[in-house]
Amino acid sequence: MILALHAAGFSPEDAAVRKNEAVNPPPMTIRELTDRDWPEVDAIQRLSYPPAAVENLDALRCHARLSPTTCLAAEAAGRLLGYVLAHPWPHRQMPPLNTVYAAIPARADSLYLHDLTTAPAARGRGVATALVRVLFAEALRLGCTSSSLLAVQDAPGFWARFGYGEAPAVTLQFQPAFHRIFPGLAFRYMELELRRATA
Ligand SMILES: CC(C)(COP(=O)(O)OP(=O)(O)OC[C@H]1O[C@@H](n2cnc3c(N)ncnc32)[C@H](O)[C@@H]1OP(=O)(O)O)[C@@H](O)C(=O)NCCC(=O)NCCS
Repeated sequence: MILALHAAGFSPEDAAVRKNEAVNPPPMTIRELTDRDWPEVDAIQRLSYPPAAVENLDALRCHARLSPTTCLAAEAAGRLLGYVLAHPWPHRQMPPLNTVYAAIPARADSLYLHDLTTAPAARGRGVATALVRVLFAEALRLGCTSSSLLAVQDAPGFWARFGYGEAPAVTLQFQPAFHRIFPGLAFRYMELELRRATA
């Protein structure tokens, strides 16, 4: 199912009138991830994270199996530009990390955002922003009233643009479980009221 067809730098009108795709990229589609996408998802995550932060592909696939409408791909000209993996989860509870799990618990009214990554060559063109906006619209449709994530690398500034703020006490609370899976990796727990987000 195609969920959206737009983004800054990827408008269909631009692609129709301009010929040089290296300068003027083709239109971007935001859609649900499919089984064929996983090799490209894996390649993009390996280009984007240090080896110690790369996740097991079965664990990534688990998110899309449990919540297909919140695990999205951004694609242009048959190539994956980026992806987001998310699903509803109880507020302020940390899902198992880098693990295959069987079900989403009851009272899952918060969107937990596991991973948002864009291909290095596609960055700075609004790909991640387009994925987040489609994701927020779907999360609201599912009844989620908040969203949370564990921001790594230099991502806190990106998330702050959407209104996510750190809850330092929760960062501390999650540290032991997080560092059992990703020793030494810095992270910040961030959350926002989804109703107030600019979906
Ligand atoms: C963070 C990431 C997803 C951003 O992807 P992107 O496709 O380049 O993002 P966009 O083009 O939609 O950026 C939108 C805006 O956010 C800004 N932005 C991008 N990354 C940012 C960051 N790390 N900190 C602050 N601002 C950032 C952009 O400059 C842009 O600003 P503008 O609209 O004023 O030009 C991408 O850099 C990435 O995949 N990083 C590696 C993986 C990662 O760390 N993911 C987050 C895990 S929590």
